[in-house]
Amino acid sequence: MTKKRVSIFASGSGSNAEKFFEYFQNDTEIEIVSVFTNNKSAGVIDRANRFAIPHHVYNRTYWETGETIIEILEKEKVDFIVLAGFMLLIPGGLVKAYPDKIFNIHPALLPKFGGQGMYGMNVHKAVKVAAETESGITIHFVNENYDEGQIIAQVSCAIDSSDSAEEIAKKVLRLEHENYPKVVAEVIRKSI
Ligand code: GRF
Repeated sequence: MTKKRVSIFASGSGSNAEKFFEYFQNDTEIEIVSVFTNNKSAGVIDRANRFAIPHHVYNRTYWETGETIIEILEKEKVDFIVLAGFMLLIPGGLVKAYPDKIFNIHPALLPKFGGQGMYGMNVHKAVKVAAETESGITIHFVNENYDEGQIIAQVSCAIDSSDSAEEIAKKVLRLEHENYPKVVAEVIRKSI
């Protein structure tokens, strides 16, 4: 059987990307075949190199239409895409080419604390200011708008009133690492 082929898009450190590299290392049905980044200094590049996974760097201009990216994805026979801290909007052509095949994770319980500008510490600071008693992760499909695709799974964690935004971030990142590869694996396996 040919394995389902997954590409990871990341702009930053890539700690989630690394969890995918580890999780699928010896998988018989799913493999991570490449990484795309818009940032030539992204930490994800070193991590991909350590796992001998090829990477592509394309700056912002290429993501306006996504044509070049789509050509490469087709050449690599990529079946699914995982956004792991990818900071640019996915172009419409790419969303159309991969309907319900692009995953994203948002570090809060959508629809709260989502939308443009809501990324990284901005999210956790807003959660803190709102004095929420819980936060968590949302794994969802990607459509043309930030954080609005169909929700696949949410996992929550309790927040103490004494938690700083940084502490909330740590709790949420732990949930991301524990759940993101597992949830994506379940969805992909169902498609096989
Ligand atoms: C994560 O919090 C993710 O939810 C968000 O960006 C962060 C990426 O962290 N979209 P990393 O690059 O995977 O370490």
